[in-house]
Amino acid sequence: MDALTPENSGDAAALPKGVLALMVTEVTHYTDRLFHFRTTRPVSFRFRSGEFVMIGLPGGEKPVYRAYSIASPNWAEDLEFFSIKVPDGPLTSRLQHVQPGDTVYMREKATGTLVNDALLPGKRLYMFSTGTGIAPFASLIRDPETYEKFDKVILTHTCREVAELKFGIDLVAGVKADEMLNELFDTSKLVHYTSVTREDYPFKGRITDLITSGKLFADLGVPPLDPAVDRGMICGSMAMLKDTKALLEQAGLNEGANNKPGEFVIERAFVS
Ligand code: A2P
Repeated sequence: MDALTPENSGDAAALPKGVLALMVTEVTHYTDRLFHFRTTRPVSFRFRSGEFVMIGLPGGEKPVYRAYSIASPNWAEDLEFFSIKVPDGPLTSRLQHVQPGDTVYMREKATGTLVNDALLPGKRLYMFSTGTGIAPFASLIRDPETYEKFDKVILTHTCREVAELKFGIDLVAGVKADEMLNELFDTSKLVHYTSVTREDYPFKGRITDLITSGKLFADLGVPPLDPAVDRGMICGSMAMLKDTKALLEQAGLNEGANNKPGEFVIERAFVS
């Protein structure tokens, strides 16, 4: 399927400058709070796995754009996004109703710090996520470069409820079963650690508590955080970022950026 362009959308005059029109191809609702959608990818659009873009919808007097991590890897032919639904949210109240065939707007510039380039080489890469914060990691765990840099890639995902883990569980199972991905990298390097805070589940508790108690490392069978070999990426709410960052710093890891790679990087899971 071709991406919509001003030329073929039949609505050339309406497409704002610097904005690309994406056509929705698939929508999956996981819970009454979370959904995933897939769109066409304009051939001209480039990004690094882990980056985010601004997403909006046509119509309305003043277009509302919100930052969304791209959940698909940079080599993929389509784009994926994972979103919460806020009943009175300026964008998500409408975005949650998109259907295949609908148009979504995307500003053409992708950016962000949850990228491999912002991390120093290491042995183990921890991706700490809560809620929709798993989105940039859904991209990075399908990028061969991540496995070239690290021996072990540990994706942690903590949600309030068990049903909210399903996107990540299906995704990781899909990666491990995918023939093409198994040719591109060693999928056994990928470890998925899930925990839940508000329902019964074999692994219970906030990721911060699991780090502090050492249960995370005991469950994984790895030593505690070590700045010499461990690297981290964090994506979640502002409070989760602040608390997780403090724990990594306490363990001796320093924050990095695109222009100064470090031992960990952070980015908030945007739409709230
Ligand atoms: P909790 O249920 O104890 O609030 P949300 O959907 O609100 O972003 O939360 C997603 C997950 O992040 C929940 O499991 C939530 O736990 C957890 N969480 C919220 N705040 C923090 C924090 N400051 N540090 C670590 N985890 C947090």
